[in-house]
Amino acid sequence: MATVFVVANQKGGIGKSTTATNLAGILGKKAKTLLIDADPQGNSTSTYEAKVEDVATLYDVIIDSDKLPIKEAIQHTENGDIVASDPLLVKAEKMLDGDVEGFYRLKDALDALDDYKYIVIDTAPSLNIILYNCLIAADKVIIPVTADSYAMQGIQQLYDTIMAVKRRQNRDLTIAGLLLVRYSGRSNLERETRENIEASAKEMNTRLFKTVIRECVKTKEAQEQKKLLIDYAPKCNTCLDYIDFSQELLKVK
Ligand SMILES: Nc1ncnc2c1ncn2[C@@H]1O[C@H](COP(=O)(O)OP(=O)(O)OP(=O)(O)O)[C@@H](O)[C@H]1O
Ligand SMILES: [Mg+2]
Repeated sequence: MATVFVVANQKGGIGKSTTATNLAGILGKKAKTLLIDADPQGNSTSTYEAKVEDVATLYDVIIDSDKLPIKEAIQHTENGDIVASDPLLVKAEKMLDGDVEGFYRLKDALDALDDYKYIVIDTAPSLNIILYNCLIAADKVIIPVTADSYAMQGIQQLYDTIMAVKRRQNRDLTIAGLLLVRYSGRSNLERETRENIEASAKEMNTRLFKTVIRECVKTKEAQEQKKLLIDYAPKCNTCLDYIDFSQELLKVK
């Protein structure tokens, strides 16, 4: 059975897609890894240059009444295997409304997959039924945060959501940790915020990962070139940090 990581934070533009794609890329060098793009914005889909038109996407797997087997929605790209997102995913709330099994669609789909060691899920900046699907299907949540004064805004709400899922639908779900991303290390504020984040992580019975992801211009460049850092700039700070992070993550029980 695969270990399923979900990258979540309902705050926009934090670094979820950057974390999900680069983590999947790094894990993919070691073992069979699948990236699932559960954000209708489709940033990971775009980085992987996966198709959205005329192919099966996550929409067909979890929303369409035909419930296509997930294997048929996997695209093999130069960056790795991916189930693409679809702008139609925004209809999820309406389509799954009133369906008691609507929360379990992704879990059911993943249960039928047996040849991946790691599955990484990128999520949208919202707390909606797709996120519930992801949390119910997942083993571990990675919460990227930035070290600014609003860093922890909304984290309590995310934590409550994760705990509710853990109580009712997925007892084995854990928060792997908070991951400090896009860190410049230049300002005092960043350093102070880091301490606050560490304290909040403790309150949430989890950790702030020791590895901090530093900023690097190559990150944006790679995304523009539709490449993953491990292939495009394996020695840049951001990539070196994601490599350390992936090792730290795999040690988390
Ligand atoms: N380590 C980094 N160094 C430099 N830029 C970064 C780094 N990490 C993320 N970024 C940039 O920050 C922006 C937001 O990152 P990203 O798209 O990963 O956030 P997100 O949380 O997925 O956003 P959304 O909530 O819209 O899905 C992007 O332009 C990305 O290139
Ligand atoms: Mg994103």
